[in-house]
Parts: sequence; structure tokens; C-alpha cells
Amino acid sequence: MKYFVTTPIYYVNDVPHIGHFYTTLAADILARYYRNKLGGGNVFFTVGTDEHGTKVAEAAAKHGKSPKEYVDEVAPAFINAWKHANISYDFFIRTTEPQHKKLVREVFTNLYKDGYIYKDVYEGLYCVGCEKFLTEQDMVEGKCPLHPKESPQKQKEDNYFFKLSSFAETLRQKITSGELKILPESRKNEILARIDSGLEDVSISRQTVSWGIPVPWDESQTFYVWVEAVFNYYSATHIIGNTKKFWPPQLHIMAKDILWFHAVIWPALLLAANIQLPEVVFAHGFFTMNGQKISKSLGNVLSPNEIIEKFGVDGARYLLISAFNFGSDGDVDLKAFVDKYNGDLANGLGNLISRTAKLCEGLTFPAENSIKKNTADTHGEIDIVADGTDSSAEERGKGVSTENNPYQNYMEQYEFLSVLEYIWKKIRMLDRHLNTQQPWHISNAEEKKAALVPVVEGLRGIADELEPFMPDTAQKLRKQFSGEHIAIANVFFKRI
Ligand code: MSP
Repeated sequence: MKYFVTTPIYYVNDVPHIGHFYTTLAADILARYYRNKLGGGNVFFTVGTDEHGTKVAEAAAKHGKSPKEYVDEVAPAFINAWKHANISYDFFIRTTEPQHKKLVREVFTNLYKDGYIYKDVYEGLYCVGCEKFLTEQDMVEGKCPLHPKESPQKQKEDNYFFKLSSFAETLRQKITSGELKILPESRKNEILARIDSGLEDVSISRQTVSWGIPVPWDESQTFYVWVEAVFNYYSATHIIGNTKKFWPPQLHIMAKDILWFHAVIWPALLLAANIQLPEVVFAHGFFTMNGQKISKSLGNVLSPNEIIEKFGVDGARYLLISAFNFGSDGDVDLKAFVDKYNGDLANGLGNLISRTAKLCEGLTFPAENSIKKNTADTHGEIDIVADGTDSSAEERGKGVSTENNPYQNYMEQYEFLSVLEYIWKKIRMLDRHLNTQQPWHISNAEEKKAALVPVVEGLRGIADELEPFMPDTAQKLRKQFSGEHIAIANVFFKRI
């Protein structure tokens, strides 16, 4: 059992923003969850930067740098952003790495030899912002809808083409059979409809772009940035020398904007190269901020650090992933973030922690390990049944079994919001338990302890379940409640 999860490799000329953070956080949550489940050595989580192509070359020129100097200078911005956000990636891949370039050249040489690639003239419109050729159906009033300020560039040049059209039937079969899962279901249907409307061969090289990986059999051309970039996932497993163990990926995560490349072009290239397909390609939605599209001109391109400064790393992680349902489009409302932070974190979890710790003062509790042996994985005497209601009294012992564990089910179905709602139901229930038991009125130490043990155990369980989302908080929480003597807690979440 192993788990290989990837994020898109972001264009290196961009500054890391909250949109990149969102995808990377989702992948981090899954990587952390599967490390707990399968063991750290069985999980491989990659992130990285996409460093070739016109867009990057133009940005370098603007800064008066050579492309290589420029990418070396800006790539660390992403490395630092992920470090600050506590993203536990195993490998950061840059497409300018020699081993990636070598692998791309080898794979495409084989495709060329096997007859999947041919030369033809490409004539059409190119959007530099997207680094892609536009079709009629992509354009709105003759412009790229994502880059309405730039005019698409007319291009006519000799290019090499990949016979994408000959894979339509195989792709359709793999996707409908579920061998290649495209999620959510609605996105799968969109992809299938587009395949059915006809697949055209795609250009895989550029004659006029020098900042790229040279095509081995015709060095006057470089590979089109997208077709080499998708191979980053495969290269990463080669660079760490563990392709055999980790290939294929269990999950590629991205937003819907780049699903076509991942759900159609990438699998077709793999089929041609006789490399195993990924298991799942998941496209989450796009979000707006305070109701507006994220864009430089509107000045609302927020860096991960800006929300981390305001809400702390774990606060930012929590607020972002619970802002809307994973998979749907949504809005990130920064004003609502403050209320949610105060409600769920400062007053909710934070208050329960400090109030419980204070009540535990002077008592001796069974240490975490001795309790775990007795209660298996029910995390204490207050069990939660699937609908999240308190089953403590009569239902004791019938708690959540691992086979039908809603936490696990939600996690493995990418339903992050449901996971958090499930945890917060527990938090509210533990609060209610304190309110009804009123341990502050109990003078007998043993009785007081009996009233508090379920809450202590509940919080220990919550620490485990929160770990993928809020790793520092989970660690602090474990430390706070794992021993026999529980000290007064420092404030976990300061009110804003
Ligand atoms: N370089 C390519 C990816 C190559 S992968 C082989 C690229 N880079 S990008 O920098 O433009 O990143 C696009 C991705 O950033 C989206 O697919 C998504 O993961 C993330 N997002 C950027 N803005 C976002 C939102 N407003 N909302 C959600 N996700 C966002 O495309």
C-alpha cells in the first residue's frame, strides 16, 4: 500500500498566492492523512515549479535576466511559501532539472520512433498567459477569457504533432470504466462530452520558443511547455530513484482550469509511452475573493503569508479549506474569516482546551497509552455515531468502528468540509458534556476525574483527527493532554 499525490507545478514567474495555497493545502492534508494510515515511507507528495516557455522567458527579459538566472532567483519563493504554510511535501521538482529534461527527451524520442509524432504546419492563435493554443470554443469575442487584456498571438510555424486523435476510444473506455477516475463526477461528464465531440492531434513543439527542452531529433524546436511539464510527476519518481515503488500516482489534484491537460493529453501521452495511468484526477473548483476574481489588476492577489500572519498557520489552513466545499466553485470572504476564526477556533476548540485543562489541574489521569489500549479507536467514552449526535450513555462501546468510520470515509472521498464538521460536532458535544456534568461543582476528586476523562480522551482523539489539517495544533494538543498530569494551557487561538 502506497500513496502518491501531486499538485500542479505552478508557473515560476507568478508569486505564490492563495489559489496555489488552496490546492497545495488539499494535497498536504491527504499526504498527512495517508502517512498516518500507511506509514511515512509509503507516501510520496510532490510539488514544484513550471519553468520553461514564453511566459517565463518574457518575465526574465523584463527583469533584464537570462531565463535561467531568473528562474533560479524566483523558484525559492514557492519553496519558502510552502515552508511557512507547513506543507509537508517530499519532493520539490523544477522542470529545469537536468534529470527531468533527460527523461522528457527519452520518452518523446520513443514516441517519435513508435510513430506517434509527425511534423505539420500549425496555424492558429496562441495565448501566452495560458501557454496554450486557443480554439474557437475557447475564445470570447476573439480573446482568451482568462487574459482579456492580451491579444492572442497569430502563429504559423512547423511543429511536431502528437496523434491524440487515435487515443479517443481508449481514453473513453478507461474513463467510463473507472480505470482512470476523473472526479468530481460532473467534471468527468464534461471531459467525456468533449472527447465525444472529437479529439484533434496536438502540437507538442515550438519553433520560435528557445526557452524550453530541445527536441532531440530536431534541435531547432523545443517541446511545448505543457507536454513536458506534465512529465514532472514521472520525473520526480525517477529523481528519487523510486519509480517502481511509487508509480503510478494515486491522485493528481488541480483546479478545473487545467483538467483537460491532466485528464486527456497526459493520459494519452502515457498510453502511447506504455506507462501506467494515474488512478484519480481530481479537479476542484475555482474561488473568487470577496466575490471578485483574483487578479493583479484588482489588487486582491493575496499571498499565503498574508493570511498566515493574520490567522496563524493552522488558522489560515483551517479557514481556507473550510471556506467552501472541496470540488465546487466558491468564494473566500476575508471578513467572514474573522468571525469563523473567533467562533470555531478561539471560542470553540480553543475555549474547550483551556477550560478542560484548567478543570484537570491537580488530578491524575491515565496516560494516553494506557487509555488507548482499553478504548481501541473509539477515542474515549463519549462516542459519536455517524450523524454526530452524542451517544454517550446508552450507546457506550458501540462507537465508530474503523470499517465504517465516517472520518476515514470523508477523508478518502475528499470531503474535507464534512471531516471538519464531524470534528466540530465532537467539540460541541464535549462542551455540552462539561456543561451537564459541571465538574467545577464536584468536590470528590475521583468523581471529578470520572466526569473529565471522556473530555480528555475526546481531545486526544481530536488531536489525531485534526493533524492533517492543523498539524501544529494537533501536536500541541497531544502534548497538552497526553500525560498523567495536565497543566494549565496557553492560549491556542488568540481572539481577533
Ligand atoms: N504550470 C501550470 C500547471 C502545470 S502542471 C503539469 C499552471 N500553473 S498555474 O500557476 O497557473 O497554476 C494553476 C493552478 O493554481 C490551478 O489549477 C489551481 O490548482 C491553482 N489556482 C490558481 N488560482 C486559483 C483559484 N482562484 N481557485 C482555485 N485554485 C486556484 O497552470
